[in-house]
Amino acid sequence: MKRSQINSIMRSADEFIRRHGFLLPPFAYWTPDQWRTKGPESAEIVRNQLGWDITDFGSGDFDKVGLFLFTVRNGHPENWKTKQGKLYAEKILVVQDQQITPMHFHWSKAEDIINRGGGKLVIQLFNSTPDDRLADTPVEVSTDGVLRTVKAGDVVRLEPGESITLPTRLYHKFWGEGGKVLVGEVSLVNDDKTDNRFYESVGRFPAIEEDESPFHLLYSDYARHYKGA
Ligand SMILES: [Fe+2]
Repeated sequence: MKRSQINSIMRSADEFIRRHGFLLPPFAYWTPDQWRTKGPESAEIVRNQLGWDITDFGSGDFDKVGLFLFTVRNGHPENWKTKQGKLYAEKILVVQDQQITPMHFHWSKAEDIINRGGGKLVIQLFNSTPDDRLADTPVEVSTDGVLRTVKAGDVVRLEPGESITLPTRLYHKFWGEGGKVLVGEVSLVNDDKTDNRFYESVGRFPAIEEDESPFHLLYSDYARHYKGA
């Protein structure tokens, strides 16, 4: 992806998020120059993968297959061993009309996906087989505390205010319908480096062509700008 495209996605996502009354934390707005001045006190942001995250999943066409995410809070996967610290995570996502996040499940992360406003969020569901393929068995899911059963490959539509609980190993693919959707994610500790099992192989962190300077740093930019750890 080009940096100019990432910058413009950031600007429009920030505007959309604010318009729905959700505000990002202070570190969202640090400039690359400010990042270079940060010390060990800010290490949690880097260590726990917080911040801006934009991906086209290697598609080359962000509007068709892509996702905007901002990780607001997260623990470190190591916390599972000690049961200390944050064992939870929160993200805010922007899903465009018909923009697909490809079919995937998580090995360790259970997540609630919440429609926080805008259009509808459509989620297609499959159970997984023991060898990680798509199962043809009915899927039982909880939507806002109410169990429902859908056929393999059926979709659940979430209106603003509605949410769904996705347990580990439950395949899901989603897209927006009828407009851009502001989506919340509340989950167990998130590790995007190891915990995503995509049904078809995709690129999670795109290579970036630096055609202009970064507006704000992506999570994947921290290593080049942050010296404080
Ligand atoms: Fe997911």
